[in-house]
Amino acid sequence: MAERFSEISAADFFYRNRDLAGFNNPTRALYAALRELVENSLDACELYKIPPKIYVRLSSEGGSDEADGGAIYRLRVADNGSGVPPEYVPSAFGQILFGSKYRLRQVRGTFGLGGKMAILYGQITTHGSARIISSVGDGSIHEFEIRIDIQRNKPEVLKRKIHENRDKWRGTIIDFSLEGDYTKAMSKILEYLRQTGMVNPYAEITLVDPRGRLYLFESATNKMPEPPSETEPHPYGCDVETIQRMISSTQCTTMLSFMMEHFHRVGKKTAESFLEHVGIEEDKSPKRLNSNDLVRIVQMMKPENFKGFLPPDPSCLSPLGEELLETGIRKELHPEFVVVEQRNPSAYSGYPFIVEVGIAYGGEIPAGSSLALYRFANKIPLLYDEASDVSRKVMNTEINWGYYKISQDLPIAVIIHICSTKVPYKTVGKEFIADRPEIEREIKNGINSVARQLSHHLSKKISIEHEKERISIFSKYLPKIAKFSTDLAGEKKVPNVEPLLRSLGRYESSEE
Ligand SMILES: Nc1ncnc2c1ncn2[C@@H]1O[C@H](COP(=O)(O)OP(=O)(O)OP(=O)(O)O)[C@@H](O)[C@H]1O
Ligand SMILES: [Mg+2]
Repeated sequence: MAERFSEISAADFFYRNRDLAGFNNPTRALYAALRELVENSLDACELYKIPPKIYVRLSSEGGSDEADGGAIYRLRVADNGSGVPPEYVPSAFGQILFGSKYRLRQVRGTFGLGGKMAILYGQITTHGSARIISSVGDGSIHEFEIRIDIQRNKPEVLKRKIHENRDKWRGTIIDFSLEGDYTKAMSKILEYLRQTGMVNPYAEITLVDPRGRLYLFESATNKMPEPPSETEPHPYGCDVETIQRMISSTQCTTMLSFMMEHFHRVGKKTAESFLEHVGIEEDKSPKRLNSNDLVRIVQMMKPENFKGFLPPDPSCLSPLGEELLETGIRKELHPEFVVVEQRNPSAYSGYPFIVEVGIAYGGEIPAGSSLALYRFANKIPLLYDEASDVSRKVMNTEINWGYYKISQDLPIAVIIHICSTKVPYKTVGKEFIADRPEIEREIKNGINSVARQLSHHLSKKISIEHEKERISIFSKYLPKIAKFSTDLAGEKKVPNVEPLLRSLGRYESSEE
C-alpha cells in the first residue's frame, strides 16, 4: 500500500505537540497559560519603561468538580502596557508564530507562540473563543472576539467593536476559558508570581484566584532598568542563510558598506581588514556574491579564522542591576544577609549576555537538604526542570562548597539571572537553559565570588557568637571570683569588675 503524504500548518503542529510548549496536562496548562500572558504584559510595559500594573483573575466556570482535577476556568489578564495596534490584534493572538519579538533584543518573548498556545489550549478544551480588548492610548478601544483556525493557522474574527476611549486608557485585556486544575497548579502559580516580583521589583501584580482570594504582589521600588535596545547580528553568530537574507533586503551597493551597516560592531577598519582577509573587493556589490563567496565569508567569520572582530557590545542589554536585584531578593525572601554581583558582560556564538548572581542567608529562608536555587532568564522565573538546567549543574558539580565552609543544610538561597539577546532555552516552554561553556563559566565565577563573601560573613558571625559566649561566662563568674578573692585576702571591699567586663565586650559592640 502506498504511503499517504500531507502537510500540516504551524498551528496544527503545536496543537499535536503541545507538550513542547509546556501545555501537557490541566495543571501545567493553567500555569503555562497564566505565565505566558503575564510575560507578554511585562514585555509590553518594560519596552516603554512603563511601571507594570498587571491584574490577573482566574475564576471557576463550573464543569466538573474542582476536586476531580480538570475543571473549566476563566482567565483574564489586564495590563497597562503599550497596547496592540488594532490591525495586528487578530494575528498577534490568532496566528501561531506571529509576533513583534523576532529581533535581536533582550525580551521575554522569543517564539511568537506563548499567548497563542494559551488561547489555542482554551479553544480545544472548551470550544470557546478569546476576547481581546486593547488600546494604544489614542481615542479608541478595540474589542475582538477571536478563534484560531488551527488547520489553516489563521485568526478568525467572530466579532469586532470599537469603543470611545475618553480616558485615554492604554493597555491590553485578554479573557478566555480553559481547562485547568487550580488545586494542583496553585502552589506553582503563586511561586511563579512571587519570583516574578523578585526579579521585577518595580512591577505590581494582583491575582484574584478561583476561591476569591486576592494576592497582591506589591512593587518595592519605582526605579526601572533602561529598556533593552535592538542590535544587528554579530559576525560570530552568522550562517549562510542569515547573510543571504541580509543581501536580499539590503540597499548597500558595496561590500564595504554592507559589512558596516548590517553587522554588530563592524566599523570601516574592521570591514576593510576582514574583506582583505577573505579576498573580496571592497566595492563588489553584495548582490553579485556567488555561493562559494558566501560559504567562504561565513567560514572566515568564525572566531578561529579571523581575530579582528570586536566582541558583542552588551549595552543593548537590560540587566536588573545589583541594587534592584538586592531589593527584589530582600522583598521576597527576607534574608538576614544578602550579597549580589553583576558579572562583566560576555558573549556566546555572537550573542552578548550578562549573568547576575546573588546569595541570601538566614532570616526567613528555610533550611533544606540542599541549597535552594532560584533561576531567572530575561527576568522570567524558571520553575520546572531544574535538574536539567545549567545553573543546577554548576552548583552541584563545579563549586567546592566545603572550601567556603557552606554545608548543604544551611538556610541559603542562590539566585542566578541570565540576560541575553538570545537565551539558549532547551525547549519552547522556556524552562531550562542549555549548558553553553561561556555561560557556565560566568555562573561558576559568579557563585564563587558571592559564596566567598557569604563565607566571610558566616565566619565573622561565628566569631562574634564565640565572643558573646565568652563574655557571658566572664560576667557570670568574674563577680564570684572577685568576691571569693576578697574574702580570701581578708579584705572588706569587693573590687568593681564592671570596667573589666566592659573592656572585654568591646569586640562585641564594635562588630554589631
Ligand atoms: N499584553 C500585550 N501587550 C502588547 N502586545 C502584546 C501583548 N500580548 C501579546 N502581544 C503581542 O503579540 C505578539 C505575540 O505574543 P506571543 O506571546 O504569542 O509571542 P511572543 O511573546 O512574541 O513570543 P513567545 O512565544 O516567546 O511568548 C507579541 O510579540 C506582541 O507583539
Ligand atoms: Mg509571549
